[in-house]
Amino acid sequence: MPITIHDLRAHKERGERFVMVTAYDTAIARLLAEAGVPALLVGDSVGNNHLGYSTTLPVTMGEMLHHGRAVVRGAPGQLLIADMPFGSYHQSAAQAVASASAFLKAGLHGVKLEGGGWVAGVTERLVECGIPVMGHLGLTPQFVNAFGGFRVQGRSSQARERILADARALESAGAFSIVLEGIPSELAAAVTAAVAIPTIGIGAGPGCDGQVLVVYDLLGITRGSMPKFARAYADIGDSIVAATRAFSDDVAAGVFPDDAHSYR
Ligand code: KIV
Repeated sequence: MPITIHDLRAHKERGERFVMVTAYDTAIARLLAEAGVPALLVGDSVGNNHLGYSTTLPVTMGEMLHHGRAVVRGAPGQLLIADMPFGSYHQSAAQAVASASAFLKAGLHGVKLEGGGWVAGVTERLVECGIPVMGHLGLTPQFVNAFGGFRVQGRSSQARERILADARALESAGAFSIVLEGIPSELAAAVTAAVAIPTIGIGAGPGCDGQVLVVYDLLGITRGSMPKFARAYADIGDSIVAATRAFSDDVAAGVFPDDAHSYR
């Protein structure tokens, strides 16, 4: 049975924590499905993690659909959510419906939108059209220029109240879950208690209903410094470098290909 948005809600109701992981291609999506990850996020973090941009802002609908379709081919039975890229829902509810529809036509099951305030109105329209919406509050990367950098949000009492109000507004608008990113743990726990829909944290402490990680951080593929909140559960980056050096050394030494890997 394919996993649906209702399964995430059931996890919250049963008090079972769950994970979501980003995916950008078929091969990794297949492995994440094999590992039993219920929800895969085709994040616009594809921009900085996969395509070499410095932020998520340049990511286009075309790029998101290209990677989204690849993930659909690899993991059709998981709950597949795509990020609406910067500029794809900001003009009007009609623009948001057109962008989100393109993801559902491509085989994804829902979309994620960053921000509160007016985004609740857009969410309501999408949900009316049968498009499941995941909200995203806190350190929303598309707001990097407005925030003046990647800074933890929700530290003042005013900002805290705003995030709580935005979470309630997204729930009322029909969002099926909310990502909480880069906010104090206590605030994330308060939001999680305040809404009936599941919260999924990243840099938001242990009090959320689920946790999400960027797949390259999780696998140890990210080079250089990782964000404080991320943990590498493997050293795949080092394995890639070692395996490629071994291949190169074998070719230089003339021991690959050998008889076993050649045709007669
Ligand atoms: O784009 C992304 O990967 C995200 C997650 C960090 C939640 O939005």
